[in-house]
Amino acid sequence: MSLNASEVEALGERGYFLRDGFLGAELAAATRAQAIELGQAGVLQPAGIRRGGDRRLDRDIRGDRITWLSQDDARGPLKDVWARFEELMRAVNEGAWLGLRSFDLQLAHYAPGTHYDRHRDAFPGDDNRRLTAIVYLNPEWRPEHGGQLRLFTPEPVDVEPRADRLVVFLSERLEHEVLTSRADRYAATAWFYSRAR
Ligand code: OGA
Ligand code: MN
Repeated sequence: MSLNASEVEALGERGYFLRDGFLGAELAAATRAQAIELGQAGVLQPAGIRRGGDRRLDRDIRGDRITWLSQDDARGPLKDVWARFEELMRAVNEGAWLGLRSFDLQLAHYAPGTHYDRHRDAFPGDDNRRLTAIVYLNPEWRPEHGGQLRLFTPEPVDVEPRADRLVVFLSERLEHEVLTSRADRYAATAWFYSRAR
């Protein structure tokens, strides 16, 4: 995998790029099916904002259910998703010199009626997340389903969470939100760090 010139330029100048076709339709569909199974098995849990925070307040801010995956517990399709994000990390390092060394992987489900308020994934200067990469897993997505990712570039850009679409952005730079979803919305997100974990 490698980044093309327009992806490198978009990342530097606008802070993000999009790519349609990251996993392949088959792997994207298998990953969605696995996410649904994990949800049914109770593995996806309400995401919290602050440790010990008020759960109800948290639910006003973000309504998704998530699970974190480590390389060891990524099985089946998710193992291939892990490998794909590893390739992306190498490609970004070669193309954009970000010096990324590790990442966390999260699976998220937004049930109908849920959203995530405007936020940033990291703050400048933190020894923290450098790059966010999200692949969407929604083959039946339609405009009336909402759930767009709104990137403040600073002009708002709405990204439709269509199956196998990858969005990559600088975690410290771009504020963003998830508009209310009207359908079940699944995604896998990797956060890349410039340190080893
Ligand atoms: C997040 C987030 C965006 C999306 O989990 O921090 O902003 O489109 N997700 O799922
Ligand atoms: Mn975010």
